[in-house]
Amino acid sequence: MSQHKTPTAILISGRGSNMMSLVEASRAPGYPAEIVTVISNRPDAPGIAWAKAQGIATVIIDHKAYATREAFEAELDEALVASKAEIVALAGFMRLMTPDFVGRWQSRMINIHPSLLPSFKGLHTHERALETGVRIAGCTVHYVRPEMDTGPIIAQAAVPVFSGDSPGSLGARVLAAEHRLYPAALRLVALGRARVEGEKVSIFEDVNDSSSLFSPKV
Ligand code: GRF
Repeated sequence: MSQHKTPTAILISGRGSNMMSLVEASRAPGYPAEIVTVISNRPDAPGIAWAKAQGIATVIIDHKAYATREAFEAELDEALVASKAEIVALAGFMRLMTPDFVGRWQSRMINIHPSLLPSFKGLHTHERALETGVRIAGCTVHYVRPEMDTGPIIAQAAVPVFSGDSPGSLGARVLAAEHRLYPAALRLVALGRARVEGEKVSIFEDVNDSSSLFSPKV
């Protein structure tokens, strides 16, 4: 008997490299999530062409075609329900969502952000990390809540900041970590092993490892 895979939708607005890492991970026989649809709010998102070429069902819901955020979200919700998705993974999806929509997908919708939240919410995270002078940067996967880049944290990955880093070089290091972190986090969510309890996530798996990142190295 084939293993049950939790149907998952991915929402993108652009390049879609995190979407690709989730799709690729989902192809492993033991992976507990299946990508049933990729939805973009931008018709020209490069990630959509890639998903289509992979034979994944794709949907374009151009937010510019809707008079209100609510009307756009109603269409989005319909597409998600039609896809039978039980989990929604935002991967570079650049639209703010209303509390109503977030509530509908409460604790079933996750996002990846290129910083160690709660530091550096919003855009230009790598520029701001370099301006601030932090020695360790990283990325976070969290459950979505109405306020941007908040919500119970599921998983984080840290990378060092090197002297001489540019936003581009730091961003590439963080992105490589994102591509490893997001599939790992979705796996925990799909297995029901990342549960929200009192607005914090408890992980029901032995994932502890005491290796630490020191930057600079000591
Ligand atoms: C990633 O850095 C992600 O963390 C952020 O937007 C970027 C999307 O990149 N939310 P991609 O489209 O997945 O390549």
